[in-house]
Amino acid sequence: MLANPATSVTTIERFILEQERNFPDATGELSNLLYDVALGAKVIASAIRRAGLVHVLGSAGGTNVQGEEQMKLDIFANETLKNAMCHTGRVCVMASEEDEQLIPIPEQYSHGKYAVLFDPLDGSSNIDVNCSVGTIFSVYRRVSMEGSGTMADVLQRGSEQVAAGYVLYGSSVMLVYSTGRGVHGFTLDPTIGEFLLSHPNIMTPRVGRYYSVNESNFARWNRGVQMAVRGFHGDTPERIKGKKSRYIGSLVADFHRNLIAGGIFLYPGDEKNPEGKLRLSYEAAPMAFLIEQAGGGATDGYRPILSIVPDRLHQRTPLVIGSHDDVVFVTETIKEFGP
Ligand code: AHG
Ligand code: MN
Ligand code: MN
Repeated sequence: MLANPATSVTTIERFILEQERNFPDATGELSNLLYDVALGAKVIASAIRRAGLVHVLGSAGGTNVQGEEQMKLDIFANETLKNAMCHTGRVCVMASEEDEQLIPIPEQYSHGKYAVLFDPLDGSSNIDVNCSVGTIFSVYRRVSMEGSGTMADVLQRGSEQVAAGYVLYGSSVMLVYSTGRGVHGFTLDPTIGEFLLSHPNIMTPRVGRYYSVNESNFARWNRGVQMAVRGFHGDTPERIKGKKSRYIGSLVADFHRNLIAGGIFLYPGDEKNPEGKLRLSYEAAPMAFLIEQAGGGATDGYRPILSIVPDRLHQRTPLVIGSHDDVVFVTETIKEFGP
């Protein structure tokens, strides 16, 4: 039968099932885990869509029309993701940017073979000004034997991820993920409540059009980083062609634009914060997994992000991520001009 575009769409469920068919020993657990995340994303998306109405519908004192106290959206997103995954038997432990400690799976549920880490609401300062925010997730296979997952399950080298992805709550809602076989993007069709395949096999351009960095930190960067960014300004045309600047202040949104259009995102360390700002396990590692799958690169300036073994949950790392040749340019410039 011929596929009619109006009646034949590829939902995220169908896409994952079809991918899995090529791997006969797949048990489907990872696929189901991705649907759990997708469901959580839809719940979060619907809350974000209403965020601007809070002032219209809500009454003073942070309570809504039903008299319930309003939850901050990052807490709401955090709880939503935990609830989407804790009862399924697919996960043994979770960790979140919003929780100081590991998040155990409640006793009454069985423990699965995956450890999941997430930044439930990335770029949350953008909420109040109606700009894009996101959710980032990262999945590892457990290394502990059974029962409740442990620190060892979540503190694994980034290259051990079995899946990673993000959801962008932008002008449309997109879910982009990889299980190590390419990067695939889905757009939420709000009329049917399904994520539909819109961007199969995303590859990022080798050289980007954009650079994204918070330049207010310029004076505190080391000379290597300053020289690299000067290169992006177009000040050293013998070394690199200048780029356009774009910075939203929401990693997911900045990353997504650069992934599709080509570009480089930097959050270097500086005098005040030598480790930078971003979290290795919730932000840098999952994005590094995606960008490498899309043909780009990610480094802390000296070593690939995916080679770093975290030694604590909320570890920060400098991050340089994006189009392959641009990341190489930054690492070489740092090597040459040094700290
Ligand atoms: P979060 O909202 O999860 O704390 O993350 C915010 C992060 C990231 O999304 C963004 O790239 C960065 O903070 C922006 O930081 P600056 O405001 O320092 O530029
Ligand atoms: Mn974040
Ligand atoms: Mn966050």
